Amino acid sequence: MIKFLKIVISVSLLLSFVTDVFCIKCWSCRSSNDPKCADPFDNSTVPITDCNEEKGLSNLPGVRPSMCRKIRQKVNGEWRYFRGCAYLGEAGIQGDERFCLMRTGTYNIFMEYCTCDSKDGCNASGIIGPMPFMIFISGMGLYFKFF
Ligand SMILES: *[C@@H]1O[C@H](CO)[C@@H](O)[C@H](O)[C@H]1NC(C)=O
Repeated sequence: MIKFLKIVISVSLLLSFVTDVFCIKCWSCRSSNDPKCADPFDNSTVPITDCNEEKGLSNLPGVRPSMCRKIRQKVNGEWRYFRGCAYLGEAGIQGDERFCLMRTGTYNIFMEYCTCDSKDGCNASGIIGPMPFMIFISGMGLYFKFF
């Protein structure tokens, strides 16, 4: 009987863990529609979306969103923010959600892409600590361009 209970408890623990992982909720907004989407993030008007309810992507059938993301983009000197569910890749950089992917393009375009799955609504502000990466990338740039 005890053994049976143990099995039931382990299975339900496992199930709650699994459903937890597949039921992440993320803040969903874009700063062009709602200025509160920008940093510092203000959740008062921004909806939190259950990523399970997302329709999915037409070009990635069967792939379910499992993380949240936050995108910060500077185009022609203007910052744009996007928050929502994310589909592919790992959360954070090498598992560390404090770091974000940085891309610098030509013509004054800069992009920062952050993903996380540590908790519901983890794509609010406060997941960003890009300095080491920025230094690393500028270092690489210096190395390849100027030496
Ligand atoms: C919204 O932000 C406030 C203040 O930071 C916080 O206390 C609250 O928990 C947030 N709401 C949700 C649903 O996370």
